Amino acid sequence: MDLVITFDSKSVLPLHRQLYEELRRSILTGRLLPGQRVPSTRAMARSLGISRTTVTQSYEDLLSEGYLQASHGSGTFICEQLPEELLRSSTERNETKEARLKRESLQLSAYGASIVGTLPAESTPKDTLISFKPGTLDYEAIPLKQWGSLMSRHFRSCNRAMLDYTNNPLGYVPLREAIAGYLARSRAVRCDPDQVIIVNGSQQALDLISRVLIDRGDTVAMEDPGYLGARHTFQAHGARLWPVAVDDSGIVIERLPARSAAKLKVIYLTPSHQFPTGMVLSLPRRLELLQWAQKRNAFIIEDDYDSEYRYGGRPIPALQGLDKSDSVVYVGTFSKVLFPALRIAYMVAPKSLVAVLACAKRLADRQSPLLEQYVLTDFINDGHLERHIRRMRTLYGRRRQTLARSLAMHLGDRVTITGESAGMHLMAQIKSRRSDEEIIERAGRLGVELVSARQYYLRSECSGKFVLGFAGLTERKIQEGVRRLSKALEE
Ligand SMILES: Cc1ncc(COP(=O)(O)O)c(C=O)c1O
Repeated sequence: MDLVITFDSKSVLPLHRQLYEELRRSILTGRLLPGQRVPSTRAMARSLGISRTTVTQSYEDLLSEGYLQASHGSGTFICEQLPEELLRSSTERNETKEARLKRESLQLSAYGASIVGTLPAESTPKDTLISFKPGTLDYEAIPLKQWGSLMSRHFRSCNRAMLDYTNNPLGYVPLREAIAGYLARSRAVRCDPDQVIIVNGSQQALDLISRVLIDRGDTVAMEDPGYLGARHTFQAHGARLWPVAVDDSGIVIERLPARSAAKLKVIYLTPSHQFPTGMVLSLPRRLELLQWAQKRNAFIIEDDYDSEYRYGGRPIPALQGLDKSDSVVYVGTFSKVLFPALRIAYMVAPKSLVAVLACAKRLADRQSPLLEQYVLTDFINDGHLERHIRRMRTLYGRRRQTLARSLAMHLGDRVTITGESAGMHLMAQIKSRRSDEEIIERAGRLGVELVSARQYYLRSECSGKFVLGFAGLTERKIQEGVRRLSKALEE
């Protein structure tokens, strides 16, 4: 392999990072091809006139992020299936050479370059489609009447304070108090209201946390498979990702980086309903993880996105409530219990991080919109939220059961469902001679939208796994969707 790499002595990036960027770019632009063998660290170091440790470090980064794979005894190769391949939207994949050159000539920042192509392809929902796409909910069941009357009440009594800038980027104080109370009751989160920070969706929480904690080249550990919204955010901030396998008890603690590995600042996980496998992190592992983070002086981001929906068994208290060392940043959202377009979520930050997160929030957007915060405060304090959650828990619980039963009835031993009875989606392993793409295509022709779990995997191999959202479908549609899916699987 003939690779000419020129290092920039004035760059703020260390040599190993420059080499990493160059190799990654070469892989993504097709200069280096899938399956191609890369030179040994010794040979590469010799040809570039740099130390072998530098090369080893870049290779390790590329290995952990799924660009390279090592085959015992025969060397290191470019992965056949690259992470970006799966993440790129179809627009991006179909980008002409001319368009790519134009993008490259924009001289984007490292941040800009790393987020190109992360926008999912736009899709218009079709009426006839039975969509098992995760992330949807029952939009008909949203209590719009109560919401609307609170909205118009606040609108009518609108005063100057509601229309002006506030000098508090952390959010409307009564809402922060209401959330602290709700979290103590429902999730055993322990916090003062002044630790609660209102943000525009969990996505903004992840972005702000990354801004204040992550420098380019820092390591962030996250579940593999895991949530793309988190992965893209950490990558955009220049983090090296450390994928950690998940088993029946959640994230596998022994797979976290050893003490000698690069500086690990953050561990991101979804402990109460792992996305997408649905596993729940066991209590012994929760305690182990907290101890581990404390020893390593790392922060844990606990994304508790859908844990209100648990359909059996005892409720699982949040990791945050067990934390005695202020290591957990807890993130929760109203996207699942109300509706995503509301764009209100919250984090509960350790006291040590509140001030810096307030500065980051102010610089990002000054504050979240106020009218909705007033409305939400009453919605929680008047008991509407918890009533709505109870109703939805019954409805979604039945839908999950219907999905599980229909899968078992139509697919029998060709299907295995993973994870606990919780949340708004489940993961199913389907045995078939057909490829995932073929199954998706055939199901699509029968009016069923299916989503492969492959995109959520960073390192491990995955085929035949699908993530099926059920919350937005009536029981009848679920049964019909599974019936059509079984037809799609027919030989
Ligand atoms: C793991 C996970 N976290 C968070 C969210 C919600 O994000 P947001 O609050 O930005 O709507 C989702 C949405 O699907 C999710 O799957």
